[in-house]
Order: sequence, then structure tokens, then C-alpha cells
Amino acid sequence: MIKADIDKFKEFIRQKLGIELPDQSDDSLQTFLSSRLDDVNQNTVSEYIKRLLKNNYQKEEFKKLAEAITNGKTSFFRHAEQLSSLCTIVKQLAPKWPTPLNVWSAGCSTGEEVYTLAIALNERGVKAQVTGSDVDGNAIETAQAGTYPPDKLKHLEKDLVDKYFVRQSEGSYAVNELLKTRTRFLSHNLVGRTYPTSESGWWHVILCRNVLIYFSRPSMSRVVEKFSRVLSPGGLFLLSPTESIHGLFPQFKLIERNGSYFYQLKQPGEQLNGTELNDNGTDALSTHIGGWPSVTTAADNNPWSKPPLLDLSEQDTEPQGSTADDSDGGGTAATHVVMDKRAIEQAIDAFQSGDRDDAIMLLFKHLKKLPQDFIGRMTLGNALTGIRDFDGAIEQYLIALDIDPLSAEAHFLLGMAYRKANNLEPAIREMKNTLFLDKGLWLASYYLADVLIKAGKKNQAKNAYENTVSNINKKSMKDYQFLSYLHGMNDAINYKSDIKLLCVKRLRSL
Ligand SMILES: C[S@@+](CC[C@H](N)C(=O)[O-])C[C@H]1O[C@@H](n2cnc3c(N)ncnc32)[C@H](O)[C@@H]1O
Repeated sequence: MIKADIDKFKEFIRQKLGIELPDQSDDSLQTFLSSRLDDVNQNTVSEYIKRLLKNNYQKEEFKKLAEAITNGKTSFFRHAEQLSSLCTIVKQLAPKWPTPLNVWSAGCSTGEEVYTLAIALNERGVKAQVTGSDVDGNAIETAQAGTYPPDKLKHLEKDLVDKYFVRQSEGSYAVNELLKTRTRFLSHNLVGRTYPTSESGWWHVILCRNVLIYFSRPSMSRVVEKFSRVLSPGGLFLLSPTESIHGLFPQFKLIERNGSYFYQLKQPGEQLNGTELNDNGTDALSTHIGGWPSVTTAADNNPWSKPPLLDLSEQDTEPQGSTADDSDGGGTAATHVVMDKRAIEQAIDAFQSGDRDDAIMLLFKHLKKLPQDFIGRMTLGNALTGIRDFDGAIEQYLIALDIDPLSAEAHFLLGMAYRKANNLEPAIREMKNTLFLDKGLWLASYYLADVLIKAGKKNQAKNAYENTVSNINKKSMKDYQFLSYLHGMNDAINYKSDIKLLCVKRLRSL
């Protein structure tokens, strides 16, 4: 089979499944194609593609293709911390939503994510109906059957297994009636024209975890845009903890709970820096359009079967920034009011003229009066780092992050303090958080590479060095709103070309 055939087939996959297959997949694709061409008595890739296109993708054949191409890896309680944070927010928001609330797990593979959600929400006393969908019809059949071998349930506490599963005579476990009534499944291609909606017209939560990583950038943009049209205003959208769309879609705002990030669909008319979910979980703007529609879903009265489908094909629009690969990721949204600028300036002056203890004392005094002053906390963290009191600095940055969890600078400086304290895993986490919030902050990917090397993670470090070089080439960090208290960091920015050379050198040695 020639490379042109493989490329033609990859283009077909890109158009029909939205998936961008890397060159590394050429060999396995060739094996798959050769065996399928033999089985279906076709001689050329073009004939095979024609056959797939006939009669709505020749359902059975398309199923085989989707199964071979897509990666269906999943498990019960995958990314458990993120799910736990999700349940916390949903519980806070649920009183404003109609009962039962509607959750969609898009790209659910063999169903573990769907049943996990139904269990986790039920355990929190939230009544929810969870719909799972996937392009892989075989995966959906497995999901629907809801029977799993014992080792699939090994991460579940015994109490939960007893409560939600029934042991079968041959040793496997089947989901019980409660889970069956709270869940349903359908075959659905995210790249297709129609999107499912719930009986009330909206989803309150949409999860699409570990799916869009395989998508080309334009397909990913179109999919997220479509999600935003079937998600209820104020509803939540989740990717996996390592995927980010921050800053790409103005209709979403980023919110943070216990270290996990979620996208919340803004209410109509909501300002760009509009109201975020506050600490009580009450969303001041959810009354903006008269609160949540009070709808009794069909599930209350009717057997819960297929969700209504919405045709979104005519309304395709590119989201803002979605095609600009050099987007700066949005940066930090919050503006910090310096509550007592003079006190901070005095402290910085004292610090710079060598009176470090005085500076720190001034800052502590200032923060006693104004404990919520973000800039004061950051300045104190910076000063404590300057005298090598890393634990003290970490404490201040953590408080700063309580005040503004979405500050890329605070995550970055916290990461730097952990790095200096030789606390590698938290340093890696914080550098990743920084890049999640502002992927243009190349200094963070540079230090991420540095800590990854120290932690012995060479391959990941290589990626981080490569990202540093590409971000240095793409964006000037001179534009970055570094705050004046970041002594030392501004110097590093001036050595941009030296850092680039250093990265290239390290990449050669890795
Ligand atoms: C790695 S699994 C993720 C499963 C689950 N969301 C999780 O995180 O555990 C990715 C799933 O995305 C599905 N998928 C890939 N392309 C899709 C598409 N165009 N439409 C719907 N599902 C798709 C695959 O079939 C696969 O089951």
C-alpha cells in the first residue's frame, strides 16, 4: 500500500471522525486497511472509502473502523478528584436546576464514566439522568449491557459495589436496576450534524474527557462550539484535567474547585468578567433569565429512551480565537485592586535597599489589616522567597490562590517556591497549572522542563523544552503583565534568547 493511500484514508478519517491521526499510526492503519480490504473484497482504498460512504457509512463497517481508530481506554472513577469536585459544584447548583438534572458524557466508550457519574451523584443525594454516547457502536453495546469483569471494579469501594452491582453466576458484575434507570446510551458522532439534547432542551453538565485530544484543532473548535449550544446557560462543561480550552471560547468562563477546573457557560448578556460561581455555589446571574426553566423531564412520566436530536449543521461558526494557533490562552482574568499601594511600595523599597526583615514585617502588618489583599500576599511570598523561607512563601502563595484561584502568576510563583524547596511533584503540578491558565508563559514551560529533569521524567521534559522554544518563537513575553514585585523574573525575560539556546542545547543532550 502506498503512502498516498494512507494519506487519503487519514483525510477521510479527519473529515468523518474529526480525528487527526499522527504519522506514527501509519503502520497500524496499513495493517487495518489491508485486512479490511481483503475481508470486504475491495482492491483499493478509494473503493473502500466509497463503500463506507454508501448507505450512511455501511453501519457495520463504520463500527469496525471507529473501533480500530479510536482509543477506548476508560475506567470507573477515572480522574476521581475532578469528579469529586464536579459533584461538589453540582450539588451547590442543583437546587436551581430542574429535577432530575441532565448530564451527557460524550465519548463515553464502554460506559464506566456514565455509571460512575450516576453513582457519584446519587451518593451526594443529587437526582440525575446520565446519557452516554460514543461513535464506536461496539463500545455502546458493551456500555448498554452494563456487565463488567471483577477487575474493572477494583477501584470501587466494596460498599459501592454491593449497592450498585449484582454479581452474576459466572463472576462478572452487572449494574443494578437503579443505575439502569438513571442511564442511557446512544451511538453518536461528535463530528456529525445533529447533537442530542435532553428532554428539557438542555444539558446541565457535559463531560467530554480524553476525546478531543485526538481531534484536529478546527474539529475540536466546532465540537466545543456545538456543546455550547446544547448546554444550559450556567451549565458546566468538563474536559479531562490535562486538556484545556481556556481563553478560546468567550461563551465560557473558567471556574476552579479544589484544584480542578471547569468551564461554565455564561448567561446571556453576562459581561466578559462576569459573576463567577461564589463560595456558596450560588450563581448571582442564574436569575438573569428568570432562573432555570421549571420543566418536568420526560423521564418522570415516560420510559426514558432516546434523547431528542438537534440539527446544528446550519449554524456552524468558528469560535473566537479558535483558529489562531498563536492565541495567548487568555492570561489571567481577574484584576487585582491594590488596597494599600503605599504600604506595599514602602515594603518593596525597604526590601530592595537591603532591609529585608523590615520589608517582611511591614508586609505582615499590612496583611493583618487587609488579609484579602492579593498583591500584598504575592509580594510577601516573593520577599520570603528572597530570604529563602520557601515554606513561608508557599503559605502566602496558597492564600493568594484562595483569593484568586485563576491567577497564572500565583501558580507560577508557587511552583517556583516548591522547586526551590526541592518539592518536585507539587512544582510540576503548579507549572502545569500555570500553563493551563496561560500557555504563552514560556518561562513556566522552561521551569517545568527543569523540574521534570530533576524528577527523572526525561520524555516529558523534552516536550516541555520543545514547547518553550516554540512559545518563545511565537510570543514576546514582554507583553505579559508581570507585576512589579516579581524581582528576578523580569531579568529572566530579558535573557529570552539565552534561554532558547539553553533549551536547544538540553534537547540535544536528552
Ligand atoms: C479514551 S476514550 C474516553 C472515555 C471516557 N470519556 C474517559 O475519559 O474515560 C475516547 C472515546 O472517544 C470516542 N470518540 C472518538 N471520536 C469520536 C467522535 N467523533 N464522536 C464520538 N466519540 C468519539 C472513542 O470511540 C472513545 O471511546
